[in-house]
Amino acid sequence: MSTFHLVEANADQEKAIGWVHRFSQLISIEIHGEDQAGSLESTRLASTDASTRLNGIVLALPGPAPAGGPVGRFGLPHAPEDLDDVWGVTTFQLPLKDNLHLIDNAFVQVRADRRRLGVGTAMVSHLRRAAELHGRNTVVMWSDHRPGAEVSDWVDAPQGTGRVPRDPATRFALSQGFQLAQVERQSRLFLPVDLELLAALSAEARAAAEPGYRLVSWSGPTPTEYLDAVAAANHAISADAPNGEIDWEPEQWDAARVQEADERLARSGTAFHTLALSDSGEPAGLTTIFVERGEPNHGYQFNTVVLGRHRGHRLGLWLKTTNLAAVVAAHPELPHLDTWNADENGYMLAINVAMGFRVWSIGGGWQRVLA
Ligand SMILES: CC(C)(COP(=O)(O)OP(=O)(O)OC[C@H]1O[C@@H](n2cnc3c(N)ncnc32)[C@H](O)[C@@H]1OP(=O)(O)O)[C@@H](O)C(=O)NCCC(=O)NCCS
Repeated sequence: MSTFHLVEANADQEKAIGWVHRFSQLISIEIHGEDQAGSLESTRLASTDASTRLNGIVLALPGPAPAGGPVGRFGLPHAPEDLDDVWGVTTFQLPLKDNLHLIDNAFVQVRADRRRLGVGTAMVSHLRRAAELHGRNTVVMWSDHRPGAEVSDWVDAPQGTGRVPRDPATRFALSQGFQLAQVERQSRLFLPVDLELLAALSAEARAAAEPGYRLVSWSGPTPTEYLDAVAAANHAISADAPNGEIDWEPEQWDAARVQEADERLARSGTAFHTLALSDSGEPAGLTTIFVERGEPNHGYQFNTVVLGRHRGHRLGLWLKTTNLAAVVAAHPELPHLDTWNADENGYMLAINVAMGFRVWSIGGGWQRVLA
C-alpha cells in the first residue's frame, strides 16, 4: 500500500525524537558508511524551539490522514504519541530574530524502502505551505554526498570550485524546483593530533600576531566580561562567512542570545572557546569546538571568525591551534573532529588543511524562492 500522510511533532514527543534520530543514523550510514547522528540528546536539542527559532518536525506515516482533529502550527495534524512505523522525516527551522524570510536548514529524509512514492515531494509541498502560513518566501534545504561518488555527471556550485554529484538527492532537489546555491565541505581531523606540528603552527601564528593581540580561552558558559565580544564575533560570522548564493542575512546577536546558545550547548556537551582581543580590548576573532557528551564522543570544530580589520595577522591559525590544544588536553579519548566550511572559503580551508583536516563529505545547499 502506498498511501501515506504527513503529521507534525514536537521535540517533547519522545518517540518522534527517537525517529528523527533513527533517520539521521540510517541516512548517514547509507551515505557515509558511518553513523554521524551524534547523541539522542543533541537531536532533541536541535529540534527544540528557542527564542531565536521555531523548529519543525514533519513525519510521513502510512495510511490515509486522520479525519478532523487538531492541526499544529505548521498546518498538519499532530503526530500521535505512539509511532511504530515512520516512512520519512523532515526537520526545518524558522528563524525568529533575523532571516524572517526563510524556512532554513530543511532536511528531507525518506526511508530507503519507501522511496519513489512521492513522500519527498509531499514533504517539500508541505515546506511551501509552512512558508506561506508563516510569511516566508525562501526555502533552504541540504543534501549530503560522498566526495568520490561514482558518477560522471556533476552540478557545479554557483561560486567557487565546489560541485555535487548528480545522484538521487541532487535529482530530487532539482525535481522540486531548487537551485544549488552553495557547496559545503565536511572535513575531518583524526586524533590524536601531531602535537609537535600543532605547537609549531601555533608558535608561527603567535609570532605574527603578537604583540598587538592576546587570546583568552575557556570551556562552558561565556564569562560575563566577554559576552559582548562573543556577540560581536557571532554577528561577524553570520555577516562575513561566504554564503554562496544562499540568501542568509546577518544574524542579530546580543549578550542574552550568547547566554541562551551557551545553555543549549551545555545540555548536550562542552563548548571550548578561544577569543582574540586587540591590545585596546576590541574583539578580533573567535573559534569554538564542541565536544558532545556520549559514547563515543563526537567533536565538532564550529565557526571561526577573524573580524574584518583584524585580518592578516595569522589570528585564524593561532585561534584554532590554541583552542584545539585545549580540547585534546581535556578530551584525549576523542577519535576525530569534524568541521563544515563553504567550499569557496579558501582561506579557512587552507588553515584546516595545514592542521591536518581532510575532505570527508560534501553538502549541497539548495534554495527555492517561492513565487
Ligand atoms: C532524496 C529523497 C528525499 C527522495 O525522496 P522520495 O520520496 O523518493 O522522492 P519522490 O518519490 O517524491 O521523488 C520525486 C522526484 O525526485 C527525483 N528522484 C528521486 N529519487 C530519485 C532517484 N533515485 N533517481 C532519479 N531521480 C530521483 C525524481 O524526479 C522523482 O520523481 P519520479 O519518481 O516521478 O521520477 C530520498 O531518496 C532520500 O531520503 N534520500 C536520502 C536523504 C537525502 O539525500 N535527502 C536530501 C534531499 S535534498
